[in-house]
Amino acid sequence: MIIADTSALVLNWTSKDTWKTDNARNYFDALDLSAAAVLYERFDKEMHLIQFQMLSNRKFFVRKAAVEFLEQCNAERANGQVIILAAGIDPLSIELASLFSNSTIYDVDKYSLTEKEKYLNQACPNIKFVQCDITNIELLAMALVEKGWNSQQPSILIMEGITYYLTENELRQVLAFFSKHLSNLVCDFGLQPESVDPAKRLTGIEIVHKIKESVKLDFMNCYEPGYFTDLVQQCGFEKPVRYSMAAIQAERTGEISPFEGEEPAWVSLVKN
Ligand SMILES: C[S@@+](CC[C@H](N)C(=O)[O-])C[C@H]1O[C@@H](n2cnc3c(N)ncnc32)[C@H](O)[C@@H]1O
Repeated sequence: MIIADTSALVLNWTSKDTWKTDNARNYFDALDLSAAAVLYERFDKEMHLIQFQMLSNRKFFVRKAAVEFLEQCNAERANGQVIILAAGIDPLSIELASLFSNSTIYDVDKYSLTEKEKYLNQACPNIKFVQCDITNIELLAMALVEKGWNSQQPSILIMEGITYYLTENELRQVLAFFSKHLSNLVCDFGLQPESVDPAKRLTGIEIVHKIKESVKLDFMNCYEPGYFTDLVQQCGFEKPVRYSMAAIQAERTGEISPFEGEEPAWVSLVKN
């Protein structure tokens, strides 16, 4: 497997209810997720349950943060911009572009964007596709500006499902660059096993192990929660707030199960 296939893997574990627009739902239904089939089959029933709930929560949370940001921009008569780093084949850009036709959504990834653009066939002209390695900041900045990004206008940065695959230094450089131009950020990160409730820890370790092994990665970076929020702050985002998986689960489904306990999930969300 190649790392781009992790984008398909995530969507195997995403509730279709995440998407409210016909454009995003139709695109989601038409996606070929078979690139992740071999890896998907390596997880057992309990892991599927946890991953499905967790990733549906992640997508729910990120979508909500972006929608609230764009609604606020509309209220202030500004055309908000959304930069989605490592967007992969995710429908989020299609959802946001369909809901906010006066906003521009930048889908950035090293792979997969040509197919996505081809499938959409100009259905969402306010999505700009930026094929780029996000660790090359100079190139990334140039490519965004070339596609029309205006750093003087309000923007939100989305980094979903990517902090794991960057070295800490690369992550710091990306955050430090964008914090000079925008203050709205939503991202997720993986928790170091020691930080997770002992009753739930092993499942998280096994999930990370399977992904790492299948995608042939040397590392997947996970952090101690306080360290991660401090890191985001050190990179220039003033007030990063971490949201617990239980609270998001309760908001999305009305109950906290299966995220009971002190620190029940190996993934957390952060918003600034
Ligand atoms: C787990 S997927 C996440 C996709 C999507 N953001 C989501 O959460 O559903 C990871 C994505 O990161 C992309 N990626 C990994 N390293 C990258 C890099 N250095 N530059 C750009 N994209 C990268 C992969 O191609 C893949 O699409």
